Formats: sequence, C-alpha cells, structure tokens
Amino acid sequence: MHAHFERTGPLTEIASYPSWAQDMVAECEETKQSVVTHDLWPIMREARLNHGATRHFMVGIWPVIERFPGYMAMNLLKTRFGRSDGDNMARRWLVRNIRVEQNHAEYWLNWAEGATIPREEVLHGVAPAGTDALANWCEEISKNGSLAAGMAATNYAVEGATGEWSQLLYDSLTYRESFPQNVRVGSLRWLQLHAAYDDTHPWEALEIICTLLGKSPAPHDVAHITECVKRSYICMRLLADRCVEARFEPLVVSEAAA
Ligand SMILES: [Fe+2]
Repeated sequence: MHAHFERTGPLTEIASYPSWAQDMVAECEETKQSVVTHDLWPIMREARLNHGATRHFMVGIWPVIERFPGYMAMNLLKTRFGRSDGDNMARRWLVRNIRVEQNHAEYWLNWAEGATIPREEVLHGVAPAGTDALANWCEEISKNGSLAAGMAATNYAVEGATGEWSQLLYDSLTYRESFPQNVRVGSLRWLQLHAAYDDTHPWEALEIICTLLGKSPAPHDVAHITECVKRSYICMRLLADRCVEARFEPLVVSEAAA
C-alpha cells in the first residue's frame, strides 16, 4: 500500500524526508564524495589543467549539458496530471525547470571558449573515449526508467553533485582570474548559475521522488533508486578520471579543429 508522504519539515533538511530516503542518501554518500572530492577540482581551482585535459572536460561533459532539458522532457512525458500528488508535483516542477535550462547550453559554450576550447570543437569534436558513460546512462534511465528513477539519476544526483563541484571552482579566485577580464563574467556564468550556494533543486527533486514513492516503498524500489543515484555518481567520477588522466596524454587534434 502507498503510504502517503507530505513534507512538513524544512526542504533542505534530510530529517524532513522518510527514513528510507535518509538511508538512501547515507548509502550513496561515499560514492558522491568520490565525485566532489575528486583530484580534478583542486587542479582546476589552481588553474593547472592543461589544454588537452580542458578539452576532455568541455567536450566530454557537453552531451549531458546539451541533453539535460531532453532528459527532463522524457521524465515529463511519464507524468499524468491528476494521477497522484507526486505526478502533479513532478509535472509542475519539470515544466518550470526545463524553461530554466534554456540558456545553459549557450553558457557552457561561452565557458569553453573562455577556457580556449572553440565552440566548434565542443559542438562537432569527437568526445574523448570513455567520457560518454554519463550521457548514455542519463539517456537510458530518463527514457526507460520510472519517473522517480529518472529524476533521481538526473535532477537529484547529477544536479546535486554538480552544484557542489561548481561551487568549488567558482569559489576559486585563481580559477576565476585565469579568464581574460573582458570575457570573465560571460565565461563564468554557467558556473555561477550552477554553484549550489542556495540551490534547492536537488532537494526539490528528492521531495518529488519521496512524494511519488511514499513513506514505505517496496525494498526493491528503494534499492533501485539507490542504485540509480550511485550509478550517476560513478559515471561522473569516470568522466573526472578521464580529464585527470588526459593531462598525461599527447594532444589529439580532432578533425573539427584541424
Ligand atoms: Fe543547467
């Protein structure tokens, strides 16, 4: 039976959520930390990421940036107004937030250009080997998974961890000042928007997931959501690994840049 969940405590406190969700978040914490404490971030904060690795970063993450509103749209298609409180909440939230994503792809290209990776390279360059796991996973779960699983993998996990690493980079004066002053503000807009200073999006996604699943979902449903969240973090960590490894690889000039 679906045990109805309605949040009464503060949005951004884990104690406001059902115990299964608290356990899920705790269970995923170590995997999440492997993303947000990755070696990549201090290297970037110190503006020591070389050109080849910066290309891996900008070109490798781009498919997820470009497609993110698409993931949300696929999850939106799973909702039906009036079916449940969770459906209504997800529908309203996704419609509103797809609109928010409008300019983020453009801002990513501006960031790449400020970091000396031309937009043509990001748009048409070949993504570095091994960086496509995150995009493939987000696509698969948004297309074929449940509404709760799709939102857990993307809006909760990817956005949540991204908010944390974005803040690490944006907080670094050395990193910000590595951009020429005339393009600095524009280059850093994506980071500024995603830095999680008071970002409530992942919490809102968690609230929707809990409203969809209720207070006492079946153990296999909880296990599945936990697995989805972890898998997103693992794919993010693999991408970060590839960027760090790329520092030691010879520079590959793709056809788009040639
Ligand atoms: Fe965004």
